Amino acid sequence: MAASRRIIYVTSALPYANGDLHIGHLLEQIQTDIWVRYQRLRGELCLYGCADDGHGSPMMLKAEQLGVTPEALIADMKERHQRDSQDFLISHDVYHTTHSPENRHYAETIFERLSAGGYIYTKRVEQLFDPEKKMFLADRFLKGNCPRCGAEDQYGDNCEKCGATYEATELLSPRSILSGATPELRTSTHYFFDLPKLQGFLEQWTTSGTLQSEVSNKIREWLTAGLQAWDISRDAPYFGFLIPGTEDKYFYVWLDAPIGYMAALEHLVAGGGAPVTFEQIWDANSSAEVHHFIGKDIVNFHTLFWPAMLHAAGYRTPTKVHTHGFLTVDGTKMSKTRGTFINARTYLDHLDPEYLRYYFAAKLGPTTDDIDLSLDDFIARVNSDLVGKVVNIASRCAGFIHKGHDGRLAADCADPDLWQTFVDAGERIAPLFESGEFNKAVREIMALADRANQYIDTHKPWAAAKEAGREAEVQAVCTMGLNLFRVLMVYLKPILPRMAEQAEAFLQIEPLQWSDSALWLGAHAIAPFAALKQRVDPKAVAAMIEAGKASEPVKEPEPAADVRGQSPLPRESSQEEDTGMIGIDDFMKVDLRVAQIIEASHVEGADKLLQLRLNVGELGERNVFSGIRSAYEPAALQGRLVVLVANLAPRKMRFGVSEGMVLAAGEGKDIFLVAPDPDAKPGMPVK
Ligand code: 2FM
Ligand code: ZN
Repeated sequence: MAASRRIIYVTSALPYANGDLHIGHLLEQIQTDIWVRYQRLRGELCLYGCADDGHGSPMMLKAEQLGVTPEALIADMKERHQRDSQDFLISHDVYHTTHSPENRHYAETIFERLSAGGYIYTKRVEQLFDPEKKMFLADRFLKGNCPRCGAEDQYGDNCEKCGATYEATELLSPRSILSGATPELRTSTHYFFDLPKLQGFLEQWTTSGTLQSEVSNKIREWLTAGLQAWDISRDAPYFGFLIPGTEDKYFYVWLDAPIGYMAALEHLVAGGGAPVTFEQIWDANSSAEVHHFIGKDIVNFHTLFWPAMLHAAGYRTPTKVHTHGFLTVDGTKMSKTRGTFINARTYLDHLDPEYLRYYFAAKLGPTTDDIDLSLDDFIARVNSDLVGKVVNIASRCAGFIHKGHDGRLAADCADPDLWQTFVDAGERIAPLFESGEFNKAVREIMALADRANQYIDTHKPWAAAKEAGREAEVQAVCTMGLNLFRVLMVYLKPILPRMAEQAEAFLQIEPLQWSDSALWLGAHAIAPFAALKQRVDPKAVAAMIEAGKASEPVKEPEPAADVRGQSPLPRESSQEEDTGMIGIDDFMKVDLRVAQIIEASHVEGADKLLQLRLNVGELGERNVFSGIRSAYEPAALQGRLVVLVANLAPRKMRFGVSEGMVLAAGEGKDIFLVAPDPDAKPGMPVK
């Protein structure tokens, strides 16, 4: 019996409505879109929703600065975002906004259900208030002197000089960066979502296969540390939805942002754009799937607050949250000075969107590792793989089919074994798309492209074409080549939808489906060949970088960290310049010590780790888990001296607590422990 069609609703994180999209956003949208297109190609019902995240004080302040209403600002930005996404061939079924009637409805419904369930309470909160702007100030709108080291000009939550984190109310000589005024301490009533009440549910949900293991480990640390209630209200003036029953309290932007996923679907369904109902997707007992694609800086919102809200309000929770890493360009954070802070439009002005889609696919795996866009590698890979391998197959064969064969393919398959190899590969490639291992899928596909080119090299149709009487052989070889090309285009279609469309036009076939990879195309007329992809011109890349230096960087609108210490990493869109250098003060914070291995042992269930018991002299003994198993036998390590990062915060792992990190170079089988000379004594500082 045929399996029934999956019903899947997929989302990417909602971009803020006060800045243009950049290639960091595109990494995520391309990742999501490849997954979505793959599902559709397989015949699943897969809907892709997104929206602009329109609320919050940054929208209000930016609109004020531009002299427009927030509504006008976000409407304009939404159009720009949609245009950029479309031009990158992102196939949203719906692109909505969080400032919508649907979103208001669901935000209010969820709030009311949470209140009725006893999950909401109010509390008086002391906060700094700008007497000139007449508003409470978020930490990022405050500057002053660090309460620990006295450094000037530090933000309201942490000191960039000494690394201290603190409450905004502790800042010395605070000032509002909006007006320059000295803020006053005022109290106001805030609404809180009682997250600790949902601790048990979250412990279960975050370990039930919904998250990548590295994310669920991170969450376990947070859950072990204990959750705090979440402040979900902001005082007027604010751009957002009023909390029902109040006149001056608004939902915090992060409360209604993920609800925007629901609102977008409602908008799609109401407009007749999808053969499902809202309830079919969002009811507590729904058998449909919901998948969120996000960056690792916003996991706390998507894996704690959001599922907790949904569960407590009686809705279904997400099937999976797919978390990706940050984008770096040429090995460092995107930087305006280096021109690597590339807006979507700047890229599109210079380069084909499918180049970037292909490159990101070739790099994307199912982990939260950062993805580097290395510009030289980008040029080399697109040129050698897409143009040099894939397009080459078609361009080498097409001419011979037209010359002398009237554009008609032969009826039969000349090499059934090779053909079967290509068809069978689909069985391996499909699960790689499903699990987000696009990099491995691309490797498999390119290995097939190499095989197809080898086949053509071996049979040399150009030589046979010069000899009378070998016409049928030429036609057979080129028919084979074009059929192999067609299979490759099926496998590449989620990544390269435009090129696949051009290939369909060239082969004069209906839009390819995944199952078409098994069908032979014989005795069929094809159209004349037109180049499917040009090589990347390095000059266009250089021109894009120059243009990047001149463009407006994207502003960071709302801090991701809402629970102090729970946001693991800085925002990828931070416009702060990163030189890749650290000062001596930062380096001196790392306490490196000589340590001696007392005992090393395997760790059951961890194929990369060894457990080390270390003597660190005056610091006593330490237990450390180290990823060196592939290179060392435990017995050989006993008595060895190593270098330990002694003041790394203890890390709770599945197997126990790791109290530091042992330094080693390399990776895989080539791992080399960093060792001091044999006379060094355990506990000695390493400087
Ligand atoms: O971090 C951001 O860019 C947010 N605007 C993402 C919101 S995702 C969802 F929760 F709406
Ligand atoms: Zn400081």
